[in-house]
Amino acid sequence: MIEDFKIQWFPGHMTRARRMMEEQIKLVDVVVEMLDARIPLASTNPLLSQIIGAKPRIIAVNKVDMAEDVHTEAWLTKFRKAGLLAVKVDCATGHGVKQLLALVQQAAQPVVDKWAKKGVKNRSVRVMIVGIPNVGKSTLINRLVGRRKVEAQNRPGVTKGQQWVTIAKGLDLLDTPGVLWPKFDDPKVGFALAVTGAVKEEVFNRDLAAELLMEWMLQNRLEMLNKYYGLECTGEEGSPEALEKLARTRGWLRAGGVLDLDKTRLTFLRDFRMGKIGKVTVDEL
Ligand code: G4P
Repeated sequence: MIEDFKIQWFPGHMTRARRMMEEQIKLVDVVVEMLDARIPLASTNPLLSQIIGAKPRIIAVNKVDMAEDVHTEAWLTKFRKAGLLAVKVDCATGHGVKQLLALVQQAAQPVVDKWAKKGVKNRSVRVMIVGIPNVGKSTLINRLVGRRKVEAQNRPGVTKGQQWVTIAKGLDLLDTPGVLWPKFDDPKVGFALAVTGAVKEEVFNRDLAAELLMEWMLQNRLEMLNKYYGLECTGEEGSPEALEKLARTRGWLRAGGVLDLDKTRLTFLRDFRMGKIGKVTVDEL
């Protein structure tokens, strides 16, 4: 049962991360929150809204190449209906990054207008990327910074090691992302994080994750499962039985012809995480 799934986490890390994020956010005018399109719910941190306060915020739904388009669109619609600026990106290829920049500029316009009224000219809008670990923040920063990295310069008010990089006219990016921990105490969130690779395998029970994932696939993506592995599951079987069928079909055996269920669980989990089985959105609306 997913309700039994646990991630080991350390509250001390979370407190420190929150404090650091609060400091960083003070320095910026616009915040880009990055989510994983496969798990838009699990990859958000409910604390973030509190920390950001009234600052303009944009949601960048990343890794859309690994999620189901229909669900990605549904999430984008939900965010937009809630009055948020949201855009889908694939930072691995760079798709959507231009649109994201346009949205940042749109979100920053009221700030720029306010400055203009006060007579402040030539001030750059400062933006930062935030999100849980592994969501793709660094990949995005590297894309945005690109060859312009040479223009980086230290400016006052920035924690040592962090730099502002001009990424467009009048737009500076903090080259260090803000990291927030997800909501680990919710088993469903933990499951979503584990099976998509958002957390390291050391912090959860890998066998249980594979078994729960099989159960989830049998219930939610039966056709995809059968097609990729050449299985004939009906959806009626339990997870252990389906894993045995998988081992048998693939010929994953130990010496003596015994089914190698360790290898089966591990390979299944990794195939899923890498998107080999198919594009899957775990958090459906
Ligand atoms: P973080 O800073 O938020 O912690 O994440 P990071 O950019 O390090 O990205 C985590 C992993 O996600 C990386 O893969 C990265 O290549 C991958 N990634 C980022 N954006 C996308 C995307 O839009 N689509 C897909 N499919 N993957 C994306 P990795 O395996 O950890 O490293 P590597 O393969 O890049 O070496």
